[in-house]
Amino acid sequence: MAATAEPILEVRDLVKHFPLTHGIVFKRQIGAIKAVDGVSFDLHRGETLGVVGESGCGKSTLAKLLMALERPTSGSVRIDGRDIGRARGAELKRMRRNVQMVMQDPYTSLNPRMTVGDIVGEPFEIHSDVVPRGGRRKRVQELLEVVGLNPDHINRYPHQFSGGQRQRIGIARGLALQPDIIICDEPVSALDVSIQAQVMNLLERLQNEFNLAYIFIAHDLSVVRHISDRVAVMYLGKIVEVGRDAEIYDSPTHPYTQALLSAVPVPDPEGREHRQRIILQGDPPSPANPPSGCRFRTRCWKAQEICAEQEPALETRPGSSHPSACHFAEVHDVVGSH
Ligand SMILES: Nc1ncnc2c1ncn2[C@@H]1O[C@H](COP(=O)(O)OP(=O)(O)OP(=O)(O)O)[C@@H](O)[C@H]1O
Ligand code: SF4
Ligand SMILES: [Mg+2]
Repeated sequence: MAATAEPILEVRDLVKHFPLTHGIVFKRQIGAIKAVDGVSFDLHRGETLGVVGESGCGKSTLAKLLMALERPTSGSVRIDGRDIGRARGAELKRMRRNVQMVMQDPYTSLNPRMTVGDIVGEPFEIHSDVVPRGGRRKRVQELLEVVGLNPDHINRYPHQFSGGQRQRIGIARGLALQPDIIICDEPVSALDVSIQAQVMNLLERLQNEFNLAYIFIAHDLSVVRHISDRVAVMYLGKIVEVGRDAEIYDSPTHPYTQALLSAVPVPDPEGREHRQRIILQGDPPSPANPPSGCRFRTRCWKAQEICAEQEPALETRPGSSHPSACHFAEVHDVVGSH
């Protein structure tokens, strides 16, 4: 997708620490959960950034910070050149309108007592200037049509739709305010594989039609592959590697990315034969107490002494094409020839 010069979203050194407290009546802060711990990236109009990492690495917290649903501990989020942390009143409302979200679970994210028309049209209640009251029903029907649903079903309730159709309702709602940015937090994870592709195709079509920028969050590198222009790999609150999709999939340099990729099924049997599978040991450490130096070192097969002492910067090292936060970043043939 063509990217224009000015980013629609600029994220700088974003940090979110949740206080860790002890005691019921007199709460004492005894530490912090470092959910997001220094994340920076740009996103352009019409572009998709895939964000991938294991459960608990901070993906949803990042999404909430971008939506201004959580206040950052430090760092900034600029939308179309404006700092959302400094915006107040009408300006904040306008900025919020510009960033919408599609949630993971279409079964729980839609209010079962509201009709589809009310769900998709609800954003117009808050942003009443977008469509005059008299025109809302028609606009909702148009939105249903755009996402491939029957506009005559406007009075039905969520339980009368399948999982894939419910996710379409969630997407229609996300489009209602004509945002520039949509944050998709695992939008297909709860759907059957056969339905996933349909929803992904819909998201891609809508992106082309409305020049939308997506942050596309997933656990698995295979899910974001086709939709992403760039991919950021997260581990314990930080981006450990980021690059264009070909750079991440064909020449990953961070051991964590290599391990994630080696777990992705390869359709081509020849590739499978040549591929070295890297099994990650154990779960990620607690974000309340991340390891010193490189956070991945407790699970990394390449770890050396320096890894415990010095935190590797996310930077492009000689011989590599893209940033990676590893002292020993190098291409490792995990997927073999394919
Ligand atoms: N409101 C909160 N208060 C305290 N801790 C929180 C809060 N929200 C998230 N966390 C913690 O922050 C860390 C990151 O959580 P987050 O939900 O962002 O991860 P995630 O990558 O989205 O995980 P998943 O893939 O399971 O959705 C976790 O350790 C989580 O327990
Ligand atoms: S810095 Fe060291 S521990 Fe971290 S990923 Fe690189 S080799 Fe592994
Ligand atoms: Mg999450």
